[in-house]
Amino acid sequence: MVNPAEVDAVILVGGMGTRLRPLTLSAPKPMLPTAGLPFLTHLLSRIADAGIEHVVLSTSYKAGVFEAEFGDGSKLGLQIDYVVEDEPLGTGGGIANVVPRLRHDTAVVFNGDVLSGCDLRALLDSHSEHGADVTLHLVRVGDPRAFGCVPTDSDNRVTAFLEKTQDPPTDQINAGCYVFRRSVIEQIPTGRALSVEREVFPGLLADGHKVCGYVDATYWRDMGTPEDFVRGSADLVRGIAPSPALTHQRGEKLVHDGASVAPGALLIGGTVIGRGAEIAGGARLDGAVIFDGVKVGAGAVIERSIIGFGAHVGPRALIRDGVIGDGADIGARCELLRGARVWPGITIPDGGIRFSTDL
Ligand code: GDD
Ligand code: MG
Repeated sequence: MVNPAEVDAVILVGGMGTRLRPLTLSAPKPMLPTAGLPFLTHLLSRIADAGIEHVVLSTSYKAGVFEAEFGDGSKLGLQIDYVVEDEPLGTGGGIANVVPRLRHDTAVVFNGDVLSGCDLRALLDSHSEHGADVTLHLVRVGDPRAFGCVPTDSDNRVTAFLEKTQDPPTDQINAGCYVFRRSVIEQIPTGRALSVEREVFPGLLADGHKVCGYVDATYWRDMGTPEDFVRGSADLVRGIAPSPALTHQRGEKLVHDGASVAPGALLIGGTVIGRGAEIAGGARLDGAVIFDGVKVGAGAVIERSIIGFGAHVGPRALIRDGVIGDGADIGARCELLRGARVWPGITIPDGGIRFSTDL
């Protein structure tokens, strides 16, 4: 049995969140509000819940906002250290770079954008029972091409690491959470950018290190794309995804303090309404992620979309599978569909973009 208090957590949060632009132009991906909290709060709470006490945040893009939000970590019952990369060092370089802050002989490294129900104590115990150098949390997904494909043998030993391959040999993928023996992290080259997935893991396998897999079937989602962010947020609101940080009554909607929702507005599908937002009558929001200070006009329809801080959506506008940047102004009766992204502060006049021919 591993004592979680003698394990460091390292969270990689240095990525630029390119696939979630334009929302990530103003905030790094792990800080985007998810069911009313910065996404990272859900992960930090899970780490604290497992009994881990010390966390190192490996930051690069917009590094300062993490410390401004979480400080020394005491509000979450954690001790948080921050390491900043002036130039992004990649996932492998980001791990190697935190070595001076590690306190223990075992570290569990997390990608900072994964919503997961993995039992961290069971993962740590599996690592120690197998006497592994590294243990990877693995999950099965429908389309493994967007992830790191990780086949294992009958003894749970990892046999290959194939990052984002077009023809994956198995549907078993890297879930973005690894337990490392500290001495293995100390062997990662420092001072240059490198990828844990493309260089470090294949190198460890080639050198004969004992790299094991821990497979489970709990909730798992990488929040890196608008589609996944919307689904993960809705799953938190509805209680399908676990988070020890949430105390609200699970249901079809979550409306935060200071928001006003007119009678006759319909909120379903795990919709979340941010602080100070205003939703007019007759609006229909299904799986919508509405950040703080947004205004939605009468009769507007928003489905599976994210509306950034302070944006306005005009009366009878339709937004489906879209991302609207902070402070953008979408005119009445506009139709934005199928992955449309509107940049911050952009104004689209009434009826200015349509998919249908009639107004
Ligand atoms: N410190 C630091 N420095 N962190 C970084 C850097 C960097 O240069 N680059 C990326 N990160 C962080 C990101 O902030 C994110 O939390 C994590 O590393 C993973 O980066 P993503 O950009 O989200 O990677 P991905 O989703 O395409 O793929 C990764 O995650 C999948 C599971 O969710 C890989 O690890 C795949 O193998 C894996 O299947
Ligand atoms: Mg990711």
